[in-house]
Amino acid sequence: MFQHDRDRHFPEDFVWGAASAAYQIEGGWNADGKGPSIWDTFCHEKGRVFEDQTGDVACNSYELWEEDLRCITQLGLTHYRLSFCWSRLLPDGTTRHVNQKGVDYYNRIINDLLANSVTPMVTLYHFDLPQALQDRGGWESEEIAGFFDEYARFCFRTFGDRVKLWVTLNEPCVCAELGYEEAYHAPGVQKPGTSVYLVGHNMLKAHSRAWHSYNRLFRSEQQGLVSLALNSDWAEPCNPSNPEDVAATQRYIAFSLDWFASPVFGDGDYPAVMKAQIAARSRAQGCPSSRLPEITPQMKEEVKGTADFFAINYYTSRRVRFTKSAAQTVSFSSDKEAEGIVDPSWPIAGVSWMAVVPWGLRKLLKYIKDSYGDPRIYITENGFSAVDPAPLEDTQRCAFARDTLLEVLRAIRQDGVDVRGYFVWSLLDNFEWVQGYSVRFGLFHVDFTHPRLSRTMYRSGEQYAKIIASNGLSAVQEG
Ligand code: GAL
Repeated sequence: MFQHDRDRHFPEDFVWGAASAAYQIEGGWNADGKGPSIWDTFCHEKGRVFEDQTGDVACNSYELWEEDLRCITQLGLTHYRLSFCWSRLLPDGTTRHVNQKGVDYYNRIINDLLANSVTPMVTLYHFDLPQALQDRGGWESEEIAGFFDEYARFCFRTFGDRVKLWVTLNEPCVCAELGYEEAYHAPGVQKPGTSVYLVGHNMLKAHSRAWHSYNRLFRSEQQGLVSLALNSDWAEPCNPSNPEDVAATQRYIAFSLDWFASPVFGDGDYPAVMKAQIAARSRAQGCPSSRLPEITPQMKEEVKGTADFFAINYYTSRRVRFTKSAAQTVSFSSDKEAEGIVDPSWPIAGVSWMAVVPWGLRKLLKYIKDSYGDPRIYITENGFSAVDPAPLEDTQRCAFARDTLLEVLRAIRQDGVDVRGYFVWSLLDNFEWVQGYSVRFGLFHVDFTHPRLSRTMYRSGEQYAKIIASNGLSAVQEG
């Protein structure tokens, strides 16, 4: 494929990272003045999570940060993506009360990273809304954009002298769909076909307000970059010569990636196919207006262009076939009329949804380049799950990592996509939301039965360290 060895290398200054999220690793759920988040509440309700597990302790990164730092330096990461727990910093979600212990904790992480020449990328919101704000309506309430902006400004002001890469929201589409449509994630609300769009709408407003705040108040002095992390499967039609499958495939991507990418990176509005589909179905259902809120001309101006880079999380792909929904069914999936199917030839890693399709990432990257004006892209999450017993010799994951990075190289060299960096999900095995600790994504194995929650590098971690050290794949060619 590549003629010269140098072609197996990544561009100079390529960013090599790993990612984590506060609720999934920190523990210390009520330590030192932290306020509860919706994930604390959700996990403390019986029957929500696998074996009623919680993130109360998780990897205890709140107390064991130095262990995490050791993992980071052992890998030789250039960047580490972490998220702040909003209610650790602002226990009731507002700046009325600042929890200094929370500020100290994140200051220590940031300073330690920088002292070790690792650049932090900070996500402000990775699924864990302060419970106090949920009690005031959460993401369904329009007020939330103001609260988020206040929190974002607080973080820019407090940490922005050292943090130069910001992600406002992680995967708004997952927050909206899993949290409000399917009740599969916190806050466990199930209002199909309505709240999902309202929450998405308010998340867009929150993101754009925070971006404008940065732009207006902090950018000239701090010189950082702000974006939001979007996620999407890659999708191809089940039958490419069936126009209904082709149109369904377009909707499949419109209802995930484009839903947020089009307003922020495109023309400022929701994708036309999404608008048309939801409006037509809402009309047939006798709704006074579309269940998808309108992006007004003013909001369009506010949202458009509010990202300094494109952050994409990619895990898997689907073949898509058209499925006709009953006209009266009110739900996100019946609006979409597109069913995602795992091709039987694709291997499955760990959890059933994780079909391993490295080439899907290359296609998704090309799609982003072509649809959104060739932005600079960071792959802010990509990973491979394992279920227990998860051997340290994770050869399948090693092969997956090589195949995936080869596809990223092809995207860069052959398709001319401006990919600037790659973050593995995740640094450590951690609390995988409703699947608890039964699913492992780490570069480091965590022994959750051990009192010190000991971290041990997987073979794939060793391989990643070699890839980083050589800035390419030649050193690991043969596995
Ligand atoms: C992403 C999410 C992460 C992680 C990963 C693996 O959607 O941002 O928190 O759980 O999926 O499932």
